[in-house]
Amino acid sequence: MHTHPAPEGPRALVDSSAIRANLTRCAQWAGDADVMGVVKAGGYGHGALAAARAARAAGVAIVGVARPEEALALREAGVGGPVIAWLPTPATAFGPLVEHEVTVGVGSRWVLDRVVAAAREAGVRATVHLELDTGMSRGGVAPGDWQDVVAASRRAEQEGVLRVEGVFSHLACADDPGHPSVDVQRDAFEDGLAVVARAGLDPRWRHLANSAAVVTRPDLAYDLVRPGLSAYGLSPVPQLHTAADLGLRPAMTLTSPLSAVRRVPAGSGVSYSFTHVTATDRWLGVVPLGYGDGIPRAVSDAAPVQVRPGSAEGGSGSVLAARIAGRVCMDQFVVDLGEATGAEPPAAVGDEVVLFGDGTDGGPTAQDWAEVAGTISYEVVTRLGPRVPRVLVGDDA
Ligand SMILES: Cc1ncc(COP(=O)(O)O)c(C=O)c1O
Repeated sequence: MHTHPAPEGPRALVDSSAIRANLTRCAQWAGDADVMGVVKAGGYGHGALAAARAARAAGVAIVGVARPEEALALREAGVGGPVIAWLPTPATAFGPLVEHEVTVGVGSRWVLDRVVAAAREAGVRATVHLELDTGMSRGGVAPGDWQDVVAASRRAEQEGVLRVEGVFSHLACADDPGHPSVDVQRDAFEDGLAVVARAGLDPRWRHLANSAAVVTRPDLAYDLVRPGLSAYGLSPVPQLHTAADLGLRPAMTLTSPLSAVRRVPAGSGVSYSFTHVTATDRWLGVVPLGYGDGIPRAVSDAAPVQVRPGSAEGGSGSVLAARIAGRVCMDQFVVDLGEATGAEPPAAVGDEVVLFGDGTDGGPTAQDWAEVAGTISYEVVTRLGPRVPRVLVGDDA
């Protein structure tokens, strides 16, 4: 994974074979149910196209995104087969969606009406999944409107302009196993499915499970599961299981060369506002990544990193555990490389720093960073900005 010719700048190595293997792992939990590969938000920061291709290689039945524009971008890049976009907005042009055979998630009556109108206009049969709000109070048709949306969908099916291929809902607290809302939402989903059946609709896919439910509630797999986070090798229930415990492998390694190394005396203020002042003579390194790249400023003075001394020269194989010193800036941050006892720095300009990766060699993971930043691993990987090149590595690259 680290066999790239020097010099390389800051980059996110994305192991698409890990995404494929993680989805295959999800399929094992799902039993007879099919798997959706969730690649919204640029594949949780990994690259939507790479994630979609890895998902297809894993044999997923359908690829899922939130925004319609994400689905059309995948189509443009040549991704065929079922693709669903479940978060159209009032600004969405539904014509291109139905023309490109993008399945639409219908969480409101107005979405249904716009899809049906677009299908009539294009002279095609649009495919939809109806989403019921079973208690999260976010997306999905409100329970009081469900009967109406289901009946209108049935009429559109009979007219030949609609196919209701799926019915779904989303769990609010699946990452908190044993939370009573999970079963309450399941029961509400069952009630909603009964309405669907009574109306004469026969969807192929009923689906409720996100990553956390895939792992902790295999009984909720229904016909299809929708893992996002797990596909990228991160644990959806880190308080219970590490990714490694679950047989998942983090697909992203965020890495950068050191762009400067210097020796500073005891008492030196480091980075903005001098939140860090060296207690002894120290070796410091500079990493050219900052909050302008999506590095959370909240990891200032705290996040662990792993330095690979000698890697600029081809690699000694040794690793050095280090830590961010001082504030994360827009474009860079400082790393404390250890006490300066001699003249030889412990690492040199060009040596690789792993910010987070798959955790082998005891290196930090996105989950470690999330804990330091007081957030979730989802955010750590997804917020990575466009200034950081994604470089595909692994068997599928
Ligand atoms: C409707 C829906 N399904 C599935 C997912 C995937 O969730 P996770 O990444 O927790 O598996 C999401 C993401 O939030 C979602 O909005």
